[in-house]
Amino acid sequence: MKKKEISVSILDCNFNNIKKEINKINNSNSDYIHVDIMDGKFVPNIAFDDETIKKVNLYSTKKLDYHLMVKNPNDYILKCAKNSADIISVHYEENDNVYNNLISIKKLGCKAGLAINPSTKISEVSKLFKDIDILLLMSVQPGKGGQKFLDSTFNKIIDSKKLIDEMKYQVKIEIDGGIDNKVSRKLFDLGSNILVSGSYIIKNKNFNSAITSLRD
Ligand code: DX5
Ligand code: ZN
Repeated sequence: MKKKEISVSILDCNFNNIKKEINKINNSNSDYIHVDIMDGKFVPNIAFDDETIKKVNLYSTKKLDYHLMVKNPNDYILKCAKNSADIISVHYEENDNVYNNLISIKKLGCKAGLAINPSTKISEVSKLFKDIDILLLMSVQPGKGGQKFLDSTFNKIIDSKKLIDEMKYQVKIEIDGGIDNKVSRKLFDLGSNILVSGSYIIKNKNFNSAITSLRD
């Protein structure tokens, strides 16, 4: 059976005790730590400073999954690669260099992810499927944790999965935003490979039981 991968978003962690929070994730049955990078321009919020990124890399024993919500991904790609990125995802929107970004990420030995907002259509980005390892479908508006999952995501998974299978592309589908155990089963059943979950896991005292409930 296909592996059901979970990427824990640390956006809503307690950053006063980052070591403890990362250790809790290290000791859990998650696959990745999802690191949201925001520049205050692509989205209004700002996250994370260089010091925090270094600490996450230092303390983490999990694979790191970077999600760049920034105007100029090029300014961040090398930094993420140097901080042990397994995946680096760049947004399609407001990005004139998306193809070059994807190539740079691969040249640095990382997996190249293409992130798209809820309003961006699959038909608009499918030309890039041959160049990516990960398709990151946002299931909330990018910018903050704890939002409500958008049901319009389901059809986008169906459409992308169909295309990926038809063309035999080696692309994993990752879903990000508002994910809890009420929607996770359907997301995996429709063909998603990686689910990002932040507030649902972080607010649960027992990370392992929350993560297991997303896979059940
Ligand atoms: C939203 C971020 C998400 C977010 C997920 O812009 O990209 O990764 O932190 O958190 P939840 O699961 O709380 O929606
Ligand atoms: Zn994210």
